[in-house]
Amino acid sequence: QFVPTILCGGVGSRLWPISRQHHPKPFIRLSDGQSLLQKAMLRGAKLDGAIEVLTVSNRELLFKLEDEYREVNHAQIDTSFILEPFGKNTAAAIACAALHIADVHGPATILLILPADHLISNQAAFEQATKQAIHLANDNRLVTFGIKPDCPQTAYGYIEASKNNVLRFIEKPSREKAQAYFESGKFLWNSGMFCFKASTMITALREHCPDILSATQRCIEQSPLVKGRSFSQLALDAASFDLIRDESIDFAVMEKASNVAVVPCDIGWSDIGSWDAFSELLDGDENGNRIDGHAITHHSANCYIKSDSRIVGAVGLNDLIIVDTPDALLVADKNRSQDVKHIFSALKLQN
Ligand code: GDD
Ligand code: MG
Repeated sequence: QFVPTILCGGVGSRLWPISRQHHPKPFIRLSDGQSLLQKAMLRGAKLDGAIEVLTVSNRELLFKLEDEYREVNHAQIDTSFILEPFGKNTAAAIACAALHIADVHGPATILLILPADHLISNQAAFEQATKQAIHLANDNRLVTFGIKPDCPQTAYGYIEASKNNVLRFIEKPSREKAQAYFESGKFLWNSGMFCFKASTMITALREHCPDILSATQRCIEQSPLVKGRSFSQLALDAASFDLIRDESIDFAVMEKASNVAVVPCDIGWSDIGSWDAFSELLDGDENGNRIDGHAITHHSANCYIKSDSRIVGAVGLNDLIIVDTPDALLVADKNRSQDVKHIFSALKLQN
């Protein structure tokens, strides 16, 4: 028995202007009408042995989250929520989830951490991989899912493994290191999904970041739990939550722990981190232009154009990303799609 646990926290600033403060990346709908969040929820809910789906997210998103789930939760799996007053990164979110699940279902319960903003195209392969992960988690391992890299990305964690044992976990290496790891052919990317017993994670937190564990314990003691017949909500107390150190689980635990395992998998994983990655979900025309909505191109190549209402005319353009929305327009060089986050930050400063 295990609990799929959805992390829905990042804003997805590289996907501005579709991703906004109050409409973050997981709520973006794809061409089949489903949001990334709904897909993540179903991915977990469909697994045999899932007791309920737990979601850790901002308290202001609760109604939106419930609406999204209601729309697709035909099997009516129980949904519960841990509500954050603000983001404190993934170590805090995962520590809260592990402590809460240990309280509610017992410390031997397994958590399967699923980011709300990824795509996995091969559900059958994903189910196989989770079976292996649960097996390793039962053996008190902190399990990661390893993806075969196809470029020297610096935005990911790198895993060096011998069979299922992780020799080294390096979070977001420098460009030179990423290049060397990629070329060695010995490394996998960390997918950002994890699987472990609640007790295994609590022990690892105690060993590698005891301040985060104790601050989280204090916060949970201060936080009211509301329980219904098929749901529960733990609303985290803001003052004590604010005292938890802001750190990612990758730096806080995964890089340091010696009981990390990996399940290498080929599940059609993609982290739709930027418009460049997002555009690859569409097929290109004969000039490599990918168009979502209304656009007409002339002598243009390798552009991504998204426009839901207005018509975009593109003449003589190469390698551009154009995203038109009613109140904001993005025009960016495709090779700089990671830098779109700077527009988001600048706007935040203005507001
Ligand atoms: N609830 C909650 N609260 N969720 C959060 C918070 C938070 O404060 N911060 C981040 N998350 C969620 C994000 O929404 C996302 O689903 C997931 O946790 C991972 O956070 P990111 O901020 O997207 O992490 P990352 O992309 O920089 O790195 C992680 O993912 C990579 C793969 O996509 C790491 O695990 C890397 O090692 C990994 O390669
Ligand atoms: Mg991410």
